[in-house]
Amino acid sequence: MPHADRNLAHAVDADRGLIQERASTMQDRLIVGLDVPTLKDAEKAVRELDGIVSFYKIGYQLAFAGGLDFARELASGGTRIFLDMKLLDIDNTVAKGVEAIARMGMTMLTLHAYPKTMKAAVEAARGSDLCLLGVTVLTSMDEQDVIDAGYEHDPHTLVLRRSEQALHAGMGGIVCSAEEAEAVRRIVGPNMAVVTPGIRPKGSDHGDQKRVVTPAQAIRNGSSHLVVGRPIVGAADRRAVAEAILDEMRSA
Ligand code: C5P
Repeated sequence: MPHADRNLAHAVDADRGLIQERASTMQDRLIVGLDVPTLKDAEKAVRELDGIVSFYKIGYQLAFAGGLDFARELASGGTRIFLDMKLLDIDNTVAKGVEAIARMGMTMLTLHAYPKTMKAAVEAARGSDLCLLGVTVLTSMDEQDVIDAGYEHDPHTLVLRRSEQALHAGMGGIVCSAEEAEAVRRIVGPNMAVVTPGIRPKGSDHGDQKRVVTPAQAIRNGSSHLVVGRPIVGAADRRAVAEAILDEMRSA
């Protein structure tokens, strides 16, 4: 391996190691999706979950409502932030965006798992602590949705192919359904993060999610991190639901 590539491999391994080390307790493995319309709502949710949740995901809804400054503020206080931007653009644009996000102190960032996009992002994040996650196939998509989008593969095959490409690109982790986590884990090995949204405790509303799994089963399937949005954020008693989910994760 050329010297520069070896350094890159070491840098990426160090980043992945960091994620694994930090993810040693169940609390570190639960990421709450702050999918709320206003900053005020986000601040309220974070206050309510204080002491129970220490990792939040900020996506389109909050990011475009002042959430990026809030993300910086939380990160500077030690809260981990997963910025769910699902980047996809020409390589140069992705690289410049990743460089800027790496300077914000974020813990995780998503991009669509296209090989060229991932390679550009890995190069741009080199030397930072940012864990880059490849989004394989959205958990709201089933076989027909994937066909309608023009792909020939079924979702499972596409997830596995993209996981392999993410591994080769030097990504820090994968986003997939916990239904696929076991097979993905076999491909990416023990060190990459396997982050799974589409988590639904028994009896909760699926919403638009199609490939859903319970918290306990997601842990058993090899997920390193569970992303839970509406079941916690939409609950009347957010603290109680988050605690119940953590208990279920620990019982697995
Ligand atoms: O409310 P719910 O628990 O379904 O939230 C899941 C979160 O994870 C949402 O913010 C959604 O955008 C995100 N996500 C997903 N599927 C992916 C990647 C991200 O549901 N493949």
